[in-house]
Amino acid sequence: GSGGATTPARFNFNPVAKSLADALVLPAGYSASVIYAVGDPLKAGLAAYRNDGSDVDFDWRAGDHHDGMEYFGLTVGGNARDDNGSERGLLVMNHENLTTVFLHPKGVTSSNGVRVNKAEVDREVAAHGVSVVEIRKQAGRFQTEQASPFNRRITPLTPVGIAGPVRGSALVKTVYSKDGTGARGTLNNCATGRTPWGTFLTCEENWAGYFARIKGDDARRSAREVVALKRYGLNEGSSGSYAWASAGTEDAYRRWDLGRSGISADGSDDYRNEANTFGYVLELDPYNPSALPQKRTALGRFAHECAVCPKPVVGKPVVFYMGDDSRNEYIYKFVSKAVWDAADAHRGMAAGDKYLNEGTLYVARFNADGSGEWLPLSLSNPKVAGYAGYLFADQADVLVNVRLAADAAGATKMDRPEWCAVNPKNNEVYFTLTNNSNRVLAGASGSKILPDAANPRAYEDNFTGSSATSKGNVNGHILRTRENGDDPAAGGFKWDIYLFAAEAGAPASVNLSALTADNDMSSPDGIAFTRNGLLWIQTDDGAYTDVTNCMLLAALPGQVGDGGPATVANKLGNDSLEVATQKGKNPTADNLRRFLVGPKGCEITGITETPDGRTLFINIQHPGEDTRAADLADPAKWQSHWPHGGNQRPRSATVVITKDDGGTIGI
Ligand code: FEO
Ligand code: CA
Ligand code: CA
Ligand code: CA
Repeated sequence: GSGGATTPARFNFNPVAKSLADALVLPAGYSASVIYAVGDPLKAGLAAYRNDGSDVDFDWRAGDHHDGMEYFGLTVGGNARDDNGSERGLLVMNHENLTTVFLHPKGVTSSNGVRVNKAEVDREVAAHGVSVVEIRKQAGRFQTEQASPFNRRITPLTPVGIAGPVRGSALVKTVYSKDGTGARGTLNNCATGRTPWGTFLTCEENWAGYFARIKGDDARRSAREVVALKRYGLNEGSSGSYAWASAGTEDAYRRWDLGRSGISADGSDDYRNEANTFGYVLELDPYNPSALPQKRTALGRFAHECAVCPKPVVGKPVVFYMGDDSRNEYIYKFVSKAVWDAADAHRGMAAGDKYLNEGTLYVARFNADGSGEWLPLSLSNPKVAGYAGYLFADQADVLVNVRLAADAAGATKMDRPEWCAVNPKNNEVYFTLTNNSNRVLAGASGSKILPDAANPRAYEDNFTGSSATSKGNVNGHILRTRENGDDPAAGGFKWDIYLFAAEAGAPASVNLSALTADNDMSSPDGIAFTRNGLLWIQTDDGAYTDVTNCMLLAALPGQVGDGGPATVANKLGNDSLEVATQKGKNPTADNLRRFLVGPKGCEITGITETPDGRTLFINIQHPGEDTRAADLADPAKWQSHWPHGGNQRPRSATVVITKDDGGTIGI
């Protein structure tokens, strides 16, 4: 590791400098090791990953693009859940997406956009979803247990249930489930959550992009259907991001095409509703591989980023906060109908049935005076029931098309809500708003919208000269809420902005939080509190290319106003992981510090810890993702070879971080 010149104050590490090296950089006194990389086997006897693009069996190997992750403790002996178990546990993680160039021998094979190699498509589908993998300390170091009975993959083909108000709705009746009670698998799983009853929540984010819909399909649909499809980006003329539907007419490929050119009398080729079975929070019990995972539809359908629950209070509802990560989308809250009974803490999926199938889904409105409201999304809200833009048939329709209901309710469009995190000390919630290229200073129309109090930055890009392309809020910010009466189920809240991301050298009008070379960042994405109250911030796709023309700012204490146009041109180091203590309310050089920098082309994500706070797990997602297929023959041209180095293909992977003296991480 490397360290800066400053002496640790509140932290037990020196800040890590920005780096463009193809390496994971940690502070002095810390060590990292890779324990679970793409392709690693999950059952006894399965061969090690060859990492030459020829591997198969991804339904029993680690998927690609490791993302959100949670640790679930196990007893050292036996196979019992142990919420304090720090020697043995289950890592449960999402596999969001693919770096196809390194997944196949020569990258994707296609002809005029048609996928001509079904085996490649099958591999791509199976490399998505969720992993459950047992890890155990051996001689003081965590390693995976290849033969664990808990190990499993949930892929886009795994049978799951549809639970809650959408179960049985006509909207989710499919070729696979004629009664709309089940679905196939999960897709584009991004961030995660965990329930007070010990289950895992995986959040389906950019599922919409995978679907094809032929040109002319609009004309075959009702006007209502077309409104709903377009609101979710399911536009006709799309062939889907990987063109899976083009691989064949068999069900496994045909399901990815929502269009129709004549449906048979028995409906055996009616795939119009397939996309209505994605976009949910899926619950699974890592301790019980035989329990059917369930899509919890009461939490709504959108580009789910995470689902985070404050510690429940006996006799009070259980609450989950969630973001919809797309430009100009919303922040949501689910409040259960059932009130918390501590006896449910060990009831697994049965507790999920109790708390997650009935309740009220709300969407947030942020007022300029620092207050906020939770707007209910049901037909008992007159604005939803009387919406001119879309006539909702029933509550299932409200939940399947909840973005339209949120439009109707008058929610605040946000700068791409990524993760959120609940401060265990006071239940304040931190939401990362990663960036928004559609936030403009003037000339709002269509998807381009003006700044508001909660999303106050709308820079115009001067770098492109005469083209004057707007890049919007390029660096992002972190917003903080506190519920009225400190009651998570409250109907209103107060909010402020915890941090404006920016580069250290930027003018004060841009670098509103006065970040320094030791803690500057761009595009905050992952965010999580560890049990000791440390707040971790992870970044993805940082920009550091702001040009500030103007900024609108809420009347919040401690914030500075716009200093006028400015130019900042600089290159961000790799995505970094930062740690902020809660000893100071807003970030300072003393209480926010860079802890880690990742290898080339990666996103840092998936943070979780052992209950004793002495082991931290993170994911390195898509190192080397900017490598071109045309350069595959020459490893010297690849963006990254992490983690193995040499001429090896890069791999997304889970990393274990420990302090060399065995102490707690960070402080
Ligand atoms: Fe998958 Fe919003 O990041
Ligand atoms: Ca993310
Ligand atoms: Ca992101
Ligand atoms: Ca990513």
